[in-house]
Amino acid sequence: MTNHRNAQPSTHYDVIIVGAGASGLYCALTAGRRGRRVLVIDHANKAGKKILMSGGGRCNFTNYFVEPEHFIGANPHFCKSALSRYPSWEFIGMVEAHQIPYHEREHGQLFCDDSAQDILTMLLDECTAVGVQIKLNTQINHVQTTDHDKAKRFELITSKKLGKKDVASESQSSQTRYRCESLVVATGGLSIPTMGASGIGYELAQQFGHTLIATDASLVPFTFTDKTGELIRSLAGISLPVIASNERISFKLPVLFTHRGLSGPAMLQLSNYWHSGETISINLLPDVDVTDILLTRKKSHPRQLIRTVLAENTDNALPKKLLAALQTQLWDDIKDTELANIKDERLSELGATLNGWQLKPSGTEGYRTAEVTRGGVKTDEVSSKTMQSNLQEGLYFIGEVLDVTGWLGGYNFQWAWASGFVSGEVV
Ligand code: FDA
Repeated sequence: MTNHRNAQPSTHYDVIIVGAGASGLYCALTAGRRGRRVLVIDHANKAGKKILMSGGGRCNFTNYFVEPEHFIGANPHFCKSALSRYPSWEFIGMVEAHQIPYHEREHGQLFCDDSAQDILTMLLDECTAVGVQIKLNTQINHVQTTDHDKAKRFELITSKKLGKKDVASESQSSQTRYRCESLVVATGGLSIPTMGASGIGYELAQQFGHTLIATDASLVPFTFTDKTGELIRSLAGISLPVIASNERISFKLPVLFTHRGLSGPAMLQLSNYWHSGETISINLLPDVDVTDILLTRKKSHPRQLIRTVLAENTDNALPKKLLAALQTQLWDDIKDTELANIKDERLSELGATLNGWQLKPSGTEGYRTAEVTRGGVKTDEVSSKTMQSNLQEGLYFIGEVLDVTGWLGGYNFQWAWASGFVSGEVV
C-alpha cells in the first residue's frame, strides 16, 4: 500500500464492490436494480477473467441439483440461506432471458453451448442497464472507516495500477479517494494468481477484526514423488472410471493420469476433502470384487494367469498399459504363475489392492492450477442472510473469499451468484 495523504477529493457511491468477478458483478447488478449507485473496482485489466476460463471456455455456470451437501466449510449450515433464496433456476432464468444456448452434462452440470463469454457479456449488460460503473486497472491502497456520516462510512484510496513502464512517471495525483456506505469484498481466493487472484480480501477481513480459516488450494490435481510418481507419470493420458475415497467421502468418477500426477474429476473432487500427509484410496475396478473373481477363477480355471483374468473382465477391463504397469509393481514375482499355485491370501491381498489402491500424494499442484481456494473468512462472523460482517456495519464478504467451497460441477459459481444476490438486496 502506497502513500495516500495526497489523494484527490472524494467521489461518493452508495456501494463499492472490490472485485469484478462472478460474485461482485452479481451483487452489482442486484444493487443497481434497486437504484443504488454502485462502483465496482478491480485491479485486473478485464472483468470476469475466471468466468472466461471456466468450464474449458464454456463456463459450467450452475447445476440443476444444488444442495448444501455440495459445499464445505467450517460451518456447513452457513450456505443454506443464500442458496435457498437464490436457487439455480433463478440464474438459469436470466441465461434464458438473454437467449444464451446451454446444455446439461452428467450430474446436472449446465454449460454454455458456445462460450463463457456469453455469461460475462450477460452480467456486464445487466450491470450497464442499471448504471453500475466498473473501474479496472485500479489498485486499492488503503481502506478506512470515517467516524461520521453513515453514507460515507468507508473511504478507499486507490490509484491506477501501473504497468512496468508507467512506474517511472508515477505521481501522487494519480490517487483517487472514494467514499461509500456499503463496502463489498468480492475478491475471490488465491487460485491462479496470473488471472488476478490476490490476498487483499483476507487482508481487509483481518483489518476489520475477522478471523481467517486456513486457506489451501482445492479442486486441484494431486502430485506424487517416489516410485508411485514414476508409475503414474509413465501412464500419462490414461483415464478410467474409479471410486476415489478417503475416510470422509467417496466419488465415483473418472481419474486421469498425467505427467504431473493424478487429475480428472475424481481427484479434483477428493482434493476438497484432503489434507496434507493423508492417504487416498482408488478402487480401480469399482464394479467388481477382484478377490472374489480371482478366487472363483482359481477353482474354475486353475491354469489361468492373473493378467488373463483381469484382461478378460471385459465390461470393466483395465486399460492394457495400466494392467502391465500394475503387474510390474504388484505381482511381478508371480506374473507367470498359474492361479492354482498362488496362495489364496496372496490373491485376496492383490484383490484388495486393486479395489482400494492406497496412495500417499506428496501434495497438490497448488494455487497455480487450483480451481478454488478452500478456507477464507470465517463464516461465524458474517450474517448468512445478508453476508454482512457481524463486526463492522456496512462491510460485506461474498463469493470465494468466504470459507465456503463448492464441489466441481457449477457449485462455486452458484455460490457466487447466490451470495452476490443476497448481499445485493441489502447493500
Ligand atoms: P473471482 O475470482 O471470480 O473474482 C475476484 C475478482 O477480484 C477478480 O476479478 C480479481 O481480479 C479481483 N481482485 C483480486 N484481488 C484484487 C485486488 N487486490 N484489487 C482489486 N481487485 C482484485 N466454478 C464453477 O462453478 N464452474 C466452473 O466451470 C468453474 N471453472 C473454473 C475454471 C478455472 C480454471 C478456475 C480457476 C475456476 C473455476 N471455477 C468454476 C471457480 C470459479 O471461477 C470461482 O469459484 C468464482 O469465480 C469465484 O467468484 P468470486 O467472485 O468470489 O471471485
